[in-house]
Amino acid sequence: MSQSALITGVTGQDGAYLARLLLDKGYRVYGFMPRRSTDTSWRLRELGIESSIEVIHGDVTDLSSLVRGIQASAATEVYNLAAQSFVGSSWDQPLLTGQVSGLGAANVLEAVRLVRPETRVYQASTSEMFGLIQAERQDENTPFYPRSPYGAAKLYAHWMTVNYRESFGMHASSGILFNHESPLRGIEFVTRKVTDGVARIKLGLQPELRLGNLDAQRDWGFAGDYVQAMWLMLQQEQADDYVIATGQTTSVRRFCELAFAHVGLDYEEFVKIDPRFYRPAEVDILQGKPAKAAQQLGWHARTSLEELVSMMVEADLERVSRQMKGRTG
Ligand code: NAP
Ligand code: GDD
Repeated sequence: MSQSALITGVTGQDGAYLARLLLDKGYRVYGFMPRRSTDTSWRLRELGIESSIEVIHGDVTDLSSLVRGIQASAATEVYNLAAQSFVGSSWDQPLLTGQVSGLGAANVLEAVRLVRPETRVYQASTSEMFGLIQAERQDENTPFYPRSPYGAAKLYAHWMTVNYRESFGMHASSGILFNHESPLRGIEFVTRKVTDGVARIKLGLQPELRLGNLDAQRDWGFAGDYVQAMWLMLQQEQADDYVIATGQTTSVRRFCELAFAHVGLDYEEFVKIDPRFYRPAEVDILQGKPAKAAQQLGWHARTSLEELVSMMVEADLERVSRQMKGRTG
């Protein structure tokens, strides 16, 4: 029987890369997406897969739409990537974040339990759950200490995934993914904000780049590598939880240095600190230990930080140049 997957959050960064991976593997891919008044499918178009996705309109806060989506797709695998995923906004919209990123996951698990309990489920958990870190390098056994409404919502979703697995024997896995970036990253996240800013400064459209805490450190990988790990988790005989990371940590400052240097500029001349981008509570440093994923899934991050920076800066230079030509042409 051919495989079919339903992806919530298919229009997001990871949803787009995962959809492409599954299409390449011969899956029938159903994109579960809310109706929005503006177009949200630009990533699917950039990857050239928009017309290959079967759209099911729905929202993870609406259990009935999930039930219908799982019935209609008869999905053998469900990937729950939908979230209000921007940590910064989660203090402004804590309840919405809880409803979408926390209860939304419970709705997905419940819909699968009601309609097709044999369906395998992937939950998009996060290194933000480690927050105020309790070990120098974080793995599946490190205690959690979330530091934002987003982290707290995701921790609820994580434990619901574990509980549905243990209570009902469902094949539900939680991928604890550390930060992963790409040219398809949302512009509000720091890496893309930097690479877009570099392109605009280089092309003379912007004089400076305003950022918050440059000393924060993250374990940054490439999203294209990370969606492979999601798929691998659902191919295992037993469902489980896995940390997915590069194992390296880098400061925002160093990321800026690399990105500006890529176009021959010195970040110190252009980056300005703006306290508006500080957060009420900060996650100072994250560094994963992905040994279990290496041993059990055979997964390793393949893309180096330098390759990632180069890929993102080049993509933004091309995008911004195209926009400039569009305006003058
Ligand atoms: P993203 O680009 O922000 O995508 C989030 C997706 O969720 C979008 O397609 C969004 O659609 C959709 N969505 C939002 N609210 C929804 C709702 N109520 N019902 C259905 N869909 C909804 O996030 P990402 O970077 O791809 O991350 C994917 C998942 O992994 C998220 O759950 C995120 O929290 C988690 N995660 C990400 C990282 C990372 O570094 N990228 C690390 C760990 C975990 P609209 O655009 O239409 O709102
Ligand atoms: N966004 C942003 N904008 N972050 C800034 C800025 C700025 O101008 N200046 C400094 N930073 C710092 C933030 O304070 C944070 O410490 C770090 O850069 C990374 O911020 P983001 O890129 O917004 O990502 P995040 O780590 O908060 O969250 C991302 O990774 C999580 C996994 O750990 C998101 O993708 C989450 O959805 C994901 O779960």
